[in-house]
Amino acid sequence: MLQVEVIVGDPIALERDAVIMAVEEGERPFVGSAAKADRKLGGNLSKLREWGEVKGKLGEVTVVHSLGLIPPRRIALVGVGRRKEADAEKVRRAIGSAVKVLTNIGCKRVTVALDTFSIDGISAENLGRAVAEGSLLASYKYQRKSDSEKTTDLNLLEIVVSSRRIATDVREGVQLGCILAAATNFARDLVNTPASEMTPIALSEQAKEVAERRGLKCEVYDEGWIERVGMGALRAVSLGSEQPPRFIVLRYEGEENAPTIGLVGKGITFDSGGLCLKTAEGMLEMKGDMAGAAAVIAAMDAIAQLKPKISVLACIPATENMPSGKAFKPGDILRTFTGKTIEVVNTDAEGRLILADAVAYAKQQGACPILDVATLTGAAIIALGPFCTGAFGNDEALVREVIEAGKQAGEPIWAMPMFDDYRELIKSEVADIKNTGGRPGGAITAAWFIGEFAGDTPWVHLDIAPTFWSEKDSHYFVKGATGVMVRTLVQFALNRSRQ
Ligand code: BES
Ligand code: MN
Ligand code: ZN
Repeated sequence: MLQVEVIVGDPIALERDAVIMAVEEGERPFVGSAAKADRKLGGNLSKLREWGEVKGKLGEVTVVHSLGLIPPRRIALVGVGRRKEADAEKVRRAIGSAVKVLTNIGCKRVTVALDTFSIDGISAENLGRAVAEGSLLASYKYQRKSDSEKTTDLNLLEIVVSSRRIATDVREGVQLGCILAAATNFARDLVNTPASEMTPIALSEQAKEVAERRGLKCEVYDEGWIERVGMGALRAVSLGSEQPPRFIVLRYEGEENAPTIGLVGKGITFDSGGLCLKTAEGMLEMKGDMAGAAAVIAAMDAIAQLKPKISVLACIPATENMPSGKAFKPGDILRTFTGKTIEVVNTDAEGRLILADAVAYAKQQGACPILDVATLTGAAIIALGPFCTGAFGNDEALVREVIEAGKQAGEPIWAMPMFDDYRELIKSEVADIKNTGGRPGGAITAAWFIGEFAGDTPWVHLDIAPTFWSEKDSHYFVKGATGVMVRTLVQFALNRSRQ
C-alpha cells in the first residue's frame, strides 16, 4: 500500500528514487525547484524542452536520470498543460500518470516538488488533496494471478513543501484525499470481485464490516422481510436466482435534529437480463451492476470518518437477476412498497424495479433529498460516451448542487432533460406504470420511472452506466472498475454539512 506524507525541505536535496516535477506548456516551462534542478543539471532540462522532447502536455511523462548531479536519482517531468487552464483535476491526472511510469520502472520512494504544481486559484489544501488522490487512485490494482510476484510497488510518496505553515494546509488536504481515494479503491474492489463471490449476502457482509469498522448502524433484511413489507418489485427480480436477496441499510447520524440525506445504490450483483436474457458480450461487465451499491457503501465508509453535521441514510437493494423456472416474467404485474403497480415489459429493465422499492423506502424513512446511483441504462452510454455520468432529477437546484459537488471532486456529471412529455412513454394500460418506454430516450424514461417513486421529495438519479468501468488504463484510472461517484457523494455530504 502506498503511503502519502508531507515533509518540509528542498526536493532536489533529498536522496530518493525520483522527484516528480510539473512542467507546463507555454513560455515558462520550469518554475521554482524545477528551474533550480535545470541549473544544477547544466541546463539540460531546458534543452529537452528546446528539442521538443518535453512539451508539457497534460499527462506527458519524461524520466531524466540525474547522473549524480543531484541527490534524487531521477527527475520525472510531468506535463500539466497550460498553467492558466490548470485545475485540481489536471494535477490529479498528471500525478496519476507520473506514478504509473515510476512504478513500472521499479521506484519505491519518490517525492513531489509541490512548488512546481502551484496553480492560481488552488489552495495548498486542495493541491495536497489532488496529489494524494491522483497517486493513490493510480496505484490501485485488482489482480488474482496465481504466480504474482512479491509486490515491488511504490510504497512511499512524500510531498515536499518549503515551510511548516504550508505543510499544515497541505496535510489537511492529504488527509481528506487519502480517505476519499481509499474509499474509491474500496468501491473498485467490490465491483471488480467476480459475481459468484460478490453475492447479495457477501455485499451485505461488506456493509456490516464498514459499519463495525466505523461505528455506523447497519440493518440487513432478508427475503422474508422483503416480502412482508411489500417490496414486490425487489422480490420479483430476485425470484429467478439461487442467491437470496438482501435489503441493506446503513445509517450515519450527524448532529441532533439534522436533516437526513438518502443515498440509494443499485445492487444487482449479476445482471444476466433474466428471462429477457442478454447476449454473452452484454453480460461480460455485469458483475459490475452493483457499482451504484458499491459507491454508496464506500461513500458511507468515508462519511463516517469525516463526520459531517448532517445525517445520511444509505439503502441498498441487493439481488441477482437470473433466468430460471422461478423467474419473474414479461407481462407480470408487480405491487411495490408504495402500493403502485408495475407492468413488466422487459425483465432486463430490473434496476429501476429494485430502485423503485428502495427509493420509496428511503422516502418513507424521512430522507430528503434522495440521491440514487445506478448502472441503469445502455442508453446513457450511447448518449454520453464514457466520460461523464448522467444526472436526472425533479429539482433543478438539487441537480446543479450535485453537478457542482462532482466538479469539486473531479467527477464530470451532465444534466439530462426531464420534460413532462417523457412520462407518457411509460404509461401502462394494465398497471400504474410500465418498466420500459422503448429505445428513444431510454435513459430519461428509466429516470422518470424512478422519479415516480420519489414523488415530491427532491431527488437526483445518477446513471453511471457510462462511467463505472474503464476500458483501459489512463491517468489515474486503472482498467476495470472506476469507483465513480464515491467522491461526489462524499463531497455532496460535506458541502451540505457546511451550509
Ligand atoms: N445493467 C443494465 C444497464 C447497463 C448496460 C449498465 C451496460 C452498464 C453497461 C440494465 O439493467 C439494463 O439491462 N438496461 C437495459 C434496459 C432496457 C431493457 C430497457 C438496457 O439499457 O438495454
Ligand atoms: Mn438489466
Ligand atoms: Zn442491470
